[in-house]
Amino acid sequence: MAELLNGLKRTKMCGEFRSCDIGKEVVVMGFIGKYRNLGNLLFIDVRDRSGIVQVSFDETTPKDIFEKAERLRNEFVVACVGVVRSRGGNVNKNIPTGEIEIIASDLRILSEAEVAPFIVNDDANVGEQLRLKYRYIDLRRPSLQKIMAVRSKISHIARNYLDEHGFLEVETPYLGKSSPEGARDYLVPSRIHKGEFYALPQSPQLFKQLLMISGTDRYYQIAKCFRDEDLRANRQPEFSQIDFEMSYVEDPEDVMEIAEGLIKEIFGECLGMTFDGKFRRMPYATAMSRYGSDKPDTRFGLEIEDICDIAKDSGFPVFKDAVSNGLVVKAINAKGLAESLSRKDIDKLVAFVKDYGVKGLPYIAIKESGVASSFMKFMSEDELNAIIERMGAEKGDILFFAADSYYTACTSLGALRLHLANTFDLYDRSKYDFLWVVDFPLLEYSEEEKRYVAVHHPFTSAKSEDIPLLDSDPLKVRANAYDLVINGEESGGGSIRIHDVKMQKKMFNLLGMSEEDIKLRFGFFVDAFRYGAPPHGGLAFGLDRLVMLVTGTDNIKDVIAFPKVQNASCLMTDAPSVVEDKQLDELSLIIDKCIDEQ
Ligand code: AMO
Ligand code: AMP
Repeated sequence: MAELLNGLKRTKMCGEFRSCDIGKEVVVMGFIGKYRNLGNLLFIDVRDRSGIVQVSFDETTPKDIFEKAERLRNEFVVACVGVVRSRGGNVNKNIPTGEIEIIASDLRILSEAEVAPFIVNDDANVGEQLRLKYRYIDLRRPSLQKIMAVRSKISHIARNYLDEHGFLEVETPYLGKSSPEGARDYLVPSRIHKGEFYALPQSPQLFKQLLMISGTDRYYQIAKCFRDEDLRANRQPEFSQIDFEMSYVEDPEDVMEIAEGLIKEIFGECLGMTFDGKFRRMPYATAMSRYGSDKPDTRFGLEIEDICDIAKDSGFPVFKDAVSNGLVVKAINAKGLAESLSRKDIDKLVAFVKDYGVKGLPYIAIKESGVASSFMKFMSEDELNAIIERMGAEKGDILFFAADSYYTACTSLGALRLHLANTFDLYDRSKYDFLWVVDFPLLEYSEEEKRYVAVHHPFTSAKSEDIPLLDSDPLKVRANAYDLVINGEESGGGSIRIHDVKMQKKMFNLLGMSEEDIKLRFGFFVDAFRYGAPPHGGLAFGLDRLVMLVTGTDNIKDVIAFPKVQNASCLMTDAPSVVEDKQLDELSLIIDKCIDEQ
């Protein structure tokens, strides 16, 4: 039978005891970490989320208490009463409480525990499946406890900061209408409205804009968002945003300033970082042409160069034909890697970039033994030298080329750049790099849907100087949109919104929506703008991604207490699961029996 606390109160958390507590009678509570019985001497580690403290039982311990202690096992939950004493010469330098121990005078076993499916220890090599099935045990590990504490701290800093800057925390509904963030919705069937569905929000986008129209002026929320998309290492089907929106802003810089201040506060408080000056700003066009990505990792060079002017007169048909067909030739200089990459390695790189759509990966390696290249036979000495000079190449360097459409050439070399940097450890992983990517295009053309789609979302405004292009050359229009990229990771994004009803309709029309579509999907939203709408803009940070960056993990599951796995299921609760027929009947839903056979 579990014993009761019976009014016993804990003095402080296990990890907080120090030498200054020596001589005090204290009460600690926690799980049993380690348990060692030396016959007439018994040691336990008592663990809570703050750390561990050693409790000892010896000849001074009352006999019945000592006997009770002999029954203890790992993960039992206990309360111990005792006096803090110095460990003398036996200091444990590995733990902050290592100078002291507690000599027990009383012990209560609050809960016994069966043998756990794995040891609660950061060093134990336990498979993720097992850890997630028993997530409540997994979460007892010190590293995860620490991440949960950092996550809580970041939320707290965000709330304080936004509160100090005049933002009101407002909750918005989970049961809503399909919102337009571009992923698939999670749908919830309505019992009362048979055949109708709510959609869980992909973000509070529409509501936060409606709050600006409501006169809330400045809104924030740590919002749960739901997106039914393919999962990756940095994506979960439900995740959290630090979401905010503000009125009377027209210039992206006004929103970026608030967002940047918050990031500086978070990284300053959590990691002791200091900042001088503003984060760097880079136009999207530069990010694509120099780094082949809209979220460039600028902790290292390896930048993409354009060599079309040299390639257009090249003896190498691949280069010459590319330029004459309106394609481009781009190159990167992998400095110092010429001798590190064997023929076999290069073949692997060719296979790697082919996934990004290029047909080949010509190279020039400037080796100790001379220049080696996959296309040297086509080139004059002069042409070779012109390329080498343009690329600033020296002995030991290897140049890689892509001849393709602008987008494919840039993104494939961009991917190769990241791949090489990671493989050869070309940058300091402990450094942080903060970068605003600005001036995104407003629209892109979807080959699949045969229409323009919004790069950010349909409520993002165009740069005022580009508005005339909306009619003549829509793909050239730049948006008032901005993303904060940290270490090559999109940590957040936002925009200045359209607040003019006519402009919003024009945008919907450009996106190929009929009057009917607009009315059906966004009627309430468009209507709202007819009753007075302040100019406004905002941004949302991915809270999970910020926690990943601050704690240095590359697995989003580590920063979420109860995450989902690749196939969007929860291994602990077994969600999603079948429901009772009665529930289906109430919702007038019939499950297609063919599903079983699939
Ligand atoms: P966006 O769709 O860019 O913008 O989302 C904002 C940020 O949320 C994070 N994020 C995710 N994190 C984990 N798992 C996911 N599946 C996931 N998807 C996105 C990213 C991203 O930068 N309403 C707009 C914001 C605005 O315009 O104010 C929005 O949701 O870090
Ligand atoms: P080849 O003339 O086929 O021996 O090709 C010489 C080099 O050019 C090889 O490294 C190929 O991978 C590369 N290559 C061939 N076709 C293309 C292409 N369309 N785009 C880029 N590289 C190519």
